[in-house]
Amino acid sequence: MLRIEQKTRELLETDRRFLWHPFTQMKDFEPPILVAEARDCFIRDIRGRWYLDGVSSLWVNLFGHRRAELDEAIRGQLQRVAHTTLLGLANEPAVELAQRLSALSRRHLGPQAPTRVFFSDDGSTSVEVALKMAFQYWQHKGLKEKQTFLHLENSYHGDTLGAVSVGGIGLFHQLFRPLLINTLQAPSPYCYRCSLGMEPESCSLSCLAKLERILKEHHGRIAAFIVEPMVQAAGGMVFFPPGYLKGARELCRKYNVLLIADEVATGFGRTGRMFASEHEAATPDLLCLSKGISGGYLPLAATLATEELYRAFLGEYEELKTFFHGHSYTGNQLACAVALASLEVFEKDNILEALRPKAQMLKDWLQQMSQHPHVGRAQGLGLMAGLELVRDKATKEPYGLKEQMGWQVARAALRKGLFIRPLGNVVVLMPPLNIQEENLHRMLQVLTQCIREATGAS
Ligand SMILES: Cc1ncc(COP(=O)(O)O)c(C=O)c1O
Repeated sequence: MLRIEQKTRELLETDRRFLWHPFTQMKDFEPPILVAEARDCFIRDIRGRWYLDGVSSLWVNLFGHRRAELDEAIRGQLQRVAHTTLLGLANEPAVELAQRLSALSRRHLGPQAPTRVFFSDDGSTSVEVALKMAFQYWQHKGLKEKQTFLHLENSYHGDTLGAVSVGGIGLFHQLFRPLLINTLQAPSPYCYRCSLGMEPESCSLSCLAKLERILKEHHGRIAAFIVEPMVQAAGGMVFFPPGYLKGARELCRKYNVLLIADEVATGFGRTGRMFASEHEAATPDLLCLSKGISGGYLPLAATLATEELYRAFLGEYEELKTFFHGHSYTGNQLACAVALASLEVFEKDNILEALRPKAQMLKDWLQQMSQHPHVGRAQGLGLMAGLELVRDKATKEPYGLKEQMGWQVARAALRKGLFIRPLGNVVVLMPPLNIQEENLHRMLQVLTQCIREATGAS
């Protein structure tokens, strides 16, 4: 026991001296959990305590940790080759995965679905790729003025500069404005705080009207509209009102603007469908995938483009229609092998069917929690949910930054063996898709207690 305490102290000290954690104010920071191992939906710290992984290790893990088939896929691939470049070479797992993703896209998004697969490494790079493809496409098509992008207020598409340029969260993005490309921003259909209308239907219609005004005026210079289908996740789990996504799809078509669906967070079953775009039959022209693509095991991303878009890049070398973009680890064999295994598990375990009762359990709980005096908004879809905590329910006055209400709930949850990561005052739930019903039930019970504890109201 003494040895473990000493080891823990040493690791914490080494962390303090050498590591810079993402999205973290490092002054006085100490990681609350030093992970030693993980199994199923639980992670164990170095001291031997187990925690339920309530946010799927930042929204990536689909079937829990150390899933036998996924472990085996990596081991098997290691016996052949870990990585060779996709620049000038091909490899079996990358080719097979491209085919599988293409088929998956067509099956779920219809005959117009994007089916040509370009690999990269993470959500941000999949977005960079989509933006550059959309821009270059119009250059090849002769519509050279189409040089900017339209995005939503409150959106999050990653942390590289292109992705930040289409981001709409002041806290994360404002500082970097001088470095960014100029883009256009449309209102978010964040009905709870929408200045255009609060009822879902009027919020949806007025946000679409505003979107149309921007498209009508500027379509000649807009290459693409980028959107997180159905839910602005990092923006605080803001769920779209019915009709908004479908309406946006139709407007993009009407004004000859490409639609980029950033399904980095929502893809692979999170919202109860394989892709969130399916909820409103809103087939995009470009589809960004990452996070769950490898079951939460290895960094991997894919940008899928329509064949029509792809064909615009074909030509003689000297025409310079080539898409000059690629990363060192593009098409990495280990990542593609585990992604293939993950798709197998998806089918074998009938994941989408199996998560229905759990999605219902979550929905019922959200409904119940929406009555709580400090829950202003409780929304969810599939196994993604957010509860916005407010100081005053009647006026919607938020808790102040200093109070860190989301973190108060998260810290209380940690003491009870549940790991979650809030977004400001929004408590986020995103457990692995295969979480057992009793574990989900336990998670919701713990959260109820923690919200009561932190807000001081039951
Ligand atoms: C919708 C969306 N797009 C892009 C990203 C960026 O992904 P990554 O962190 O893998 O770069 C995220 C990350 O949370 C996301 O939620």
